[in-house]
Formats: sequence, structure tokens, C-alpha cells
Amino acid sequence: MDLKTKIEQHKATVGVIGLGYVGLPLAVEFGRVGFNVIGIDVDRKKVSSINAGKNYIADVDDQMLKKLVHTRKLKASGDYRALKGCDAALICVPTPFTATKDPDISYIISATKDIARYLHKEMLVVLISTTYPETTTKVVRPILEKTGLKAGKDFYLAFSPERIDPGNKKFGIANTPTVVGGLTPRCGELAGLLYRQIINQVVMVSSPSAAEMTKLLENIFRSVNIALVNELACLCERMEGVDIWEVVDAAATKPYGYMPFYPGPGLGGHCIPIDPYYLAWKAKEYDFHTDFIELAAETNENMPYHVVDKVISALSDIGLAASRSRVLVLGVAFKKDIDDTRSSPAIKVIELLRPKVKSLIYNDPWVPKFSEHGMSLNSVPLTQKLLRSVDCVLITTNHSEYDLKMIVKNSKLVVDTRNATKGIKSPKIVKIGRKQ
Ligand SMILES: NC(=O)c1ccc[n+]([C@@H]2O[C@H](COP(=O)([O-])OP(=O)(O)OC[C@H]3O[C@@H](n4cnc5c(N)ncnc54)[C@H](O)[C@@H]3O)[C@@H](O)[C@H]2O)c1
Repeated sequence: MDLKTKIEQHKATVGVIGLGYVGLPLAVEFGRVGFNVIGIDVDRKKVSSINAGKNYIADVDDQMLKKLVHTRKLKASGDYRALKGCDAALICVPTPFTATKDPDISYIISATKDIARYLHKEMLVVLISTTYPETTTKVVRPILEKTGLKAGKDFYLAFSPERIDPGNKKFGIANTPTVVGGLTPRCGELAGLLYRQIINQVVMVSSPSAAEMTKLLENIFRSVNIALVNELACLCERMEGVDIWEVVDAAATKPYGYMPFYPGPGLGGHCIPIDPYYLAWKAKEYDFHTDFIELAAETNENMPYHVVDKVISALSDIGLAASRSRVLVLGVAFKKDIDDTRSSPAIKVIELLRPKVKSLIYNDPWVPKFSEHGMSLNSVPLTQKLLRSVDCVLITTNHSEYDLKMIVKNSKLVVDTRNATKGIKSPKIVKIGRKQ
């Protein structure tokens, strides 16, 4: 049976490399529609957790995962030999940056080298990890072709960026269109066909590089627009009677040509703070400086520092010195209602603020503890007594669980970086984006 027929009849075995926020939901979705799925991860804990039917990603349905493992539709392994029987290998490994903000594609290289050992005729390899244009053609392809097999002829190669939005209840895998760029039309056709089995709409572009650039454009668009509104938020703090939150809401009533972005304590997550740097780095190879990207990064990366200044001056305004104040931070996940703390601006704020205050504790119903930047902190239970005992409550993530009326009522001072206290009027509330 050829690959096309195997895909159409859901008889292909799909290998998913990297079982994190992107890979596991994808593996489960392919399993759900009837494919045999083999997940490969270097993290043994993840492998044993899956094989025990235990889910660790909030967006994945616990019961579905259990059922797929129980019926042997989904298996996990730490050994790439499991790829031998796979018809497709989807690469979903991390793409972080280095300390100097250069792309670190070592995970892609390592995974591709391991795939190459088991690459066989008619196999489809799709790179999903976000990366700079030409990674698929100039990094992945040569590694795979070292085997002697030719891309587009003996095996198929494509890039298809992931658009998952953790915690989004409206848009999941099936109803979020995906973009696919194949090395050859046949590569694109097969990758698109595979995706069409789990995604309603597949958008074909002419090359892997076009698909890589599409993903970067989407994320850079967010970064630049968030930077714009962060800049305006800082301006509004100097003006009389201009509240950025009110302004953004008012502008959002325009039915065309405008899309609201909100200020905040900075960027977070695996994508928006990192991906723009991938393109900025690549552009230099072409003697090109991506000024918008650099300016946006600078503006957004300044926000945690701005928040720290805001807390210190808000304390001072009520007659308290930061060095003698106790601060409670609410929310360390990088956005509401998720447990992901990667590149969270809240953690950056904590790192900067902690040495300047008498004590700093945090609460996050989604994150019981975290260890980052040399800090190891545990979430404290959020009680009225605790709120009354601290000098300042700093809201860095607006989780739905937070009872804001209760929080404001029992606090001396609330510094709100998310407009979580929208609609509550109190002189105790200090917000970024408006003059006090
Ligand atoms: N998380 C998101 O919301 C999101 C959205 C869109 C795109 N992306 C992109 O998708 C990619 C993956 O992101 P993620 O959030 O799933 O990361 P993650 O860290 O949650 O998961 C990656 C997994 O890959 C595993 N891994 C690392 N090296 C490996 C190797 N050589 N072989 C097998 N497994 C390996 C890790 O152990 C980990 O479990 C990144 O490029 C990211 O930018 C992420």
C-alpha cells in the first residue's frame, strides 16, 4: 500500500517526536481519528507517564489519552528504533534561544539525526517546531539526505507550523487552519493530506521556507503590536485622564482595520518572546536589520522593569519604603488559566523585585511551585488574612479563579498589570497604563 492510500485509510503509523505542549495534543488527535501513533521523547518521565495513561498537558483530554494507550493506539518510547515502523515523523521539539538570544536549533538537529537512522523509502518527515526560514531545506534536508535517500523522490519533506494556543477553549487542533509547505508538490500534497485527517482546513504554500516565514510573521505581528500598546501605556501614565485600557476597548469597537492588543508586564511563553529573534538572526545573513523586531523586543523586555518601578513608587505614595514592604504576587503563569511559566514576565518581575523588598511571596492556582533564575518558590494559599498581612498585591496574571472584589477589599494596595480589576473602583488600585 502506498503512503497516500495508507493516510487516506488511516492505516499509516504516525511518529511524533517531542511530546510537549505541541506534540502530545497532536499525537492524541491522530490517535483519536484512528491512526496508530508512536510518540518519542527523550524525557523518560513523559514516556512513562503516557504509557501509564497519565496525561500532563492541560489541553489534552485525560480520558481520551487513557483510552488510546489502553487500546494500544498510542505508545510512547524513548528509543528512536520505534520509528522503524512509522510512515511519518512529525518533529515537535523545542526551539529556544541561547543566552545571547541566538537561535538554538540543536534539538531539531539532534532529532533529525536520530530520524535519519531509521529513515526509509516513502517516509514523510514534517518539521513543526517554529524556526527561521531555510531550516527545513538547509538544515533538516542535508542531514536526512546523508543517508543516500533523496528528498522528494525517496522520502517526503515539509514544514508545517503549529498554531496551538494553550488554554484556548474556542480554537483547538481541528478548527484552526494549518499552513503546509512541501519541498516538492508531492511532499506538500502528502503532508497536507495527513493534516487534513485531523484539521478542517489546510492552507498550502509553495515552499517550506514560506511556511516557516508565515509562522514568524504571525508571532512577530503579535510582538510588534503588544510593544506598540505597551509604549502607549507608558505614555498614558504621564497624561491626565487617558487610561490605555479604556482607549484600547474604545478602539476595538471599530469593525474593520483594527485588532485589540493589551499592555502587560511583558511577553511570555515559548513563542512570542523568542521567535522574532530567530528571524532577526537569520536576516543578518542577508545584511538586513529587522528594526521593527528589535524595537518591539526592547519595548516589551523593558516592561518587567517598568512594573518594578511602578510597585516601588506605588508603595512610596502610601508612605512605605520598598525595602520594608511585603509583596504578594498573584499569578506566575505567562498567561491566564494555564500552568506554563516559560519565559513568564511574572517570574522576571519577581527576580527583579525580590531583592528590593522585605519579603515576596506568590500565589498561583495553576503553578504550585517553580524553580527558575536561581529561585525556588512555592505558591502560598490565598486567604483574606494573607491579603491583609501584605503591603502590596501585584497582579501579574489574571487567572479566572481570582476573586478580584475580595482581593481589593482585603488589600492595602493592588498594582494591576492586566486590568484584572476592570470595573472595580477603588483608590487602592494602581494600574499600568494610566496616571494615578
Ligand atoms: N507551546 C506552544 O504554545 C507552541 C505553539 C506553537 C508552536 N510551538 C513550537 O513548537 C515547538 C515545541 O514546543 P513545545 O511547547 O511543545 O515544547 P515542549 O518543551 O513542551 O516539548 C518539547 C518536547 O520535546 C522533547 N525533546 C527534546 N529533544 C528531543 C529529541 N531530540 N528527541 C525527542 N524528544 C525531544 C522534550 O523532552 C519535550 O518533551 C517549539 O518550536 C515551539 O516554538 C509551541
